[in-house]
Order: sequence, then C-alpha cells, then structure tokens
Amino acid sequence: MDPIERINIRGDSTFALLLEAQKRAHALFYYTPDRIALRDGRVFAAVAPLAVRDEVGNHFSLGESKRIDLAEFDVILMRQDPPFDLAYITATHLLERIHPATLVVNDPASVRNAPEKMFVTEFPDLMPPTLLTRDLTEIKSFRAEHGDIVMKPLYGKGGEAVFRVAPEDLNFGSLYDLFAVTFREPWVVQKFLPAVKQGDKRIILVDGDFGGAVNRVPAPDDLRSNMVRGGTPKETELSVREREICARLGPALRERGLLFTGIDVIDGFLTEINVTSPTGIRAIKNLGGPDLAALIWDKIEHKRAAGTQR
Ligand SMILES: Nc1ncnc2c1ncn2[C@@H]1O[C@H](COP(=O)(O)OP(=O)(O)O)[C@@H](O)[C@H]1O
Ligand SMILES: [Mg+2]
Repeated sequence: MDPIERINIRGDSTFALLLEAQKRAHALFYYTPDRIALRDGRVFAAVAPLAVRDEVGNHFSLGESKRIDLAEFDVILMRQDPPFDLAYITATHLLERIHPATLVVNDPASVRNAPEKMFVTEFPDLMPPTLLTRDLTEIKSFRAEHGDIVMKPLYGKGGEAVFRVAPEDLNFGSLYDLFAVTFREPWVVQKFLPAVKQGDKRIILVDGDFGGAVNRVPAPDDLRSNMVRGGTPKETELSVREREICARLGPALRERGLLFTGIDVIDGFLTEINVTSPTGIRAIKNLGGPDLAALIWDKIEHKRAAGTQR
C-alpha cells in the first residue's frame, strides 16, 4: 500500500479491511511498492508486521521489516492511489506473478486493464452520453448535440479538474487549450447531468453482488460530490435502475477477479467503476449500513478455503 502514515483513516477502505482482518486474528504485514523486487522469477519485499488502531494520529505500529517471498502470503490487498502511471502498471505486473496462488485483491491484471473511467465504457448503454477524445472537432460536435457538458481528465480522481461547460460558455476554447497542454491522454467529455445536485451514489459490490451504498451530495457551491471536495455522505436505497446496473456488472466483475469494487451512479447513469480499494465502506457503516469490511473478508476467506481464487 501507499505510505500508511499518509492515509485518511476516516475514509480509507483498506484501513477498514485491516481493522477487520486484525479482529479476525489474521497476521498483518505491510510494505510499500518501492520495496518490491523480482529476482529469479520470485517476488520479494521488505515487509513489516503491522498493528492498526482506529485512532487518528496513532493508527498503526510497525515491527521490524524482513525480506519475504510474497508467495508465502495467503492474501495481498493492493492499495495504491493514482497516478495510473508506469510505476503503478509495473506493480500490477509484479503482483501478477504470484496471483492467484496468493490471492491478490483485486486481480492485478484486471486492475491494470480496468482504469475507472475506461472500463465503464464497456457498458455504453448504462452510461450518460460520453465521448473520450482530445480531438477538437469531435468535442465541438458532441457539444453541439448535447449543449451542457462536463470535461474531466481520463485518469483524474477526487474531483480533480472536473468542469461544467454550459452551452453559452465562452470559456470553452480556452479550457480546451488548457486541457490540451495539461493532459497527454484523451479526456472525458460527458453530458452534464443536472440531477447531480441530488447526489452521486457510490455503490459497493462484493464479488459482483450488491453490498451497500452511500449517496454523496455536493456542496451547494460545487459540482463535485467527492467527499474530499465537501460532498456530504447520506443514507440511501437503490432504485430499480441501480439494481439493474448491479445485475449487469456483476458477472463481468466476478469473471475478472474484481472482488471489491465501487461504482458511481448519477441519476441512474453509471459514470465510473472503481477497482482500487474504493472509498465508501466506512461511510456506509457509519450511516448504519452493513459492515462491508466483514463481508469482504468472508468472501476472501471463502475463496482461500475453496481454492477457487479466480
Ligand atoms: N456528467 C456529469 N454530470 C454532472 N456532474 C458530474 C458529471 N461528471 C462528473 N460530475 C461531478 O463531478 C464529480 C467527480 O467526477 P467523477 O467522474 O466522479 O470523477 P472523479 O474520478 O474525479 O471522482 C462527480 O462526483 C459529480 O459530482
Ligand atoms: Mg468519482
């Protein structure tokens, strides 16, 4: 995982999973991706015994680190924040060497192949009208058709650089230029969904089945519902359409070993499928919802016991 001293334990899903694992008396070990080594076909890392506490500012202690063959572990939870760069991609390649004999959650090859805003485009009928490009002519014609649009980076997170461009907005040209120099990749252009005011729903799926959900309502002066941008978590139920979305995605997620995912739905339209320890499970429990950390561990333990990691 990323440096444990820097995570926000109030929202971090991996931290919730660590607490639950400790409660179940599993032995916990910790390493950062920069400590991995591949040698003679085996993957090693300097790992340290880890203890966790649900106390801000005092949330972990580490024992002495030791070089261990990662194949000796039963389970590895992969928790790396973007950027989705070559360092990230390399980490998935290394973990792929030991999966599924060691169960890596989520399957590293699938994580690599499923960047959140890319994977979702495999389900175009569940999405709002969406264009992925950096071509000005394409964007202009999409804008002419849909009027009110959103532009956002393909590999963004936490609401970074998400802009609404209203039909009469004269800043579009400059914003295009800014995106073109800032991002090397194509970006996402999407129909603006006004119902975002009512929230962007995070739905957690565990091995492809609905686990729980939390609605995130943006602050009155912001488009973005992300909790790091002032969005407020609210209790919620699933609509019929949202249940349909879960049912459609379930088999695809299971097939790819994406055991723990969080999808985002605005006004019944799917916008993201998050596969790298998505936030939400702590908020869901705090609002009186199910204990998804327990549910995820039940699933992991069951897979290990059954030897059917894939
Ligand atoms: N098409 C859209 N219509 C309305 N609001 C949107 C749209 N796309 C994104 N947003 C707002 O911006 C926020 C962040 O966008 P999102 O696509 O989830 O990217 P990120 O990966 O940064 O969370 C969303 O939670 C939502 O509030
Ligand atoms: Mg989002």
